[in-house]
Amino acid sequence: MDKKSAIAFAPATVANVAVGFDILGFPLDAVGDTVTVERVDPAPGTQPTVTLAGTDGVVSNLPADPERNTATFPLIRLRSDLGLPFGFRVSVRKGIPLSSGMGGSAASSVGALTAANALLPEPLPREDLLKYALMGEELASGSPHGDNAAPCLLGGLTLLRSLDPVEAIRIPLPEALRVVLVHPHRELDTRSSRGILPRELPLKEYVAQSSRLASFIAACYSGDLDLLARSLKDSLVEPRRAPLIPAFHSVQRAALQAGALGCSISGSGPSVFALCRSDDQAERVRRAMAAAWDAAGVPCDSWTGPVSRSGARIQENGRAGVPA
Ligand code: HSE
Repeated sequence: MDKKSAIAFAPATVANVAVGFDILGFPLDAVGDTVTVERVDPAPGTQPTVTLAGTDGVVSNLPADPERNTATFPLIRLRSDLGLPFGFRVSVRKGIPLSSGMGGSAASSVGALTAANALLPEPLPREDLLKYALMGEELASGSPHGDNAAPCLLGGLTLLRSLDPVEAIRIPLPEALRVVLVHPHRELDTRSSRGILPRELPLKEYVAQSSRLASFIAACYSGDLDLLARSLKDSLVEPRRAPLIPAFHSVQRAALQAGALGCSISGSGPSVFALCRSDDQAERVRRAMAAAWDAAGVPCDSWTGPVSRSGARIQENGRAGVPA
């Protein structure tokens, strides 16, 4: 018998990774969204529809109109492209805070697509879902950047070589590498955070940033963590966005003093991530970053863990995303 419902977990993601604006990202399983999708047969004589049953968790005030919601909109397009004779009812449990720079809109799209795909008579390869997830990103932020959606869907450190046609490349990572992700209780809308960036950049800045991107990728392939630490610096976007994040420089300094390999803004902020050599170091860095925000009077949540190798996946029950 065909499956009638499926639940997918879609992890939070760190986009940009300091050196790869709009093209590099990775997921973290410690926090994410859980999306339940039910297959709904239309009443006789009516068209199949995609509806939102509800949203709960850490965010509940998302658009109820399925055409404007990042979980349902990609399913409307998927259903229409495939000419499916049935529709979907979608429920979203948000573990990812709104406008946090943790890939919340991508996770809702990817979670919904992953669950809906499991209900298809012939599920699509995961890569084929990416173009639909990008439609959700465009709806949320006005630009179809894929550095949250691709790693959320595919897992691992993901480099987007091209959006048209979509081509995502998995970059290997040293096994020991650990992530710290800290979310100050502030919202930063991706549209405004993108809006402050200049349309054109000096050649000198391009050369400096591209040399660090190239050496970061080389360090990932060779496992050279010292090279990775020297490479993980953003002179392009971070200086322009840092003023939007309270106490950003104190938090970054605290992470580096606690031994982090590097520390920068997660996606469009205000969350901040750090990369570390071990679990112990990640825990020290997490505490140092949280203490710096605490000292600035900004409450925060924080998580640590390895980069998720699997990305979004089907799960039968349970809930992820409880902060440390
Ligand atoms: N690359 C995007 C940006 C990520 O920095 O605007 C948004 O989550």
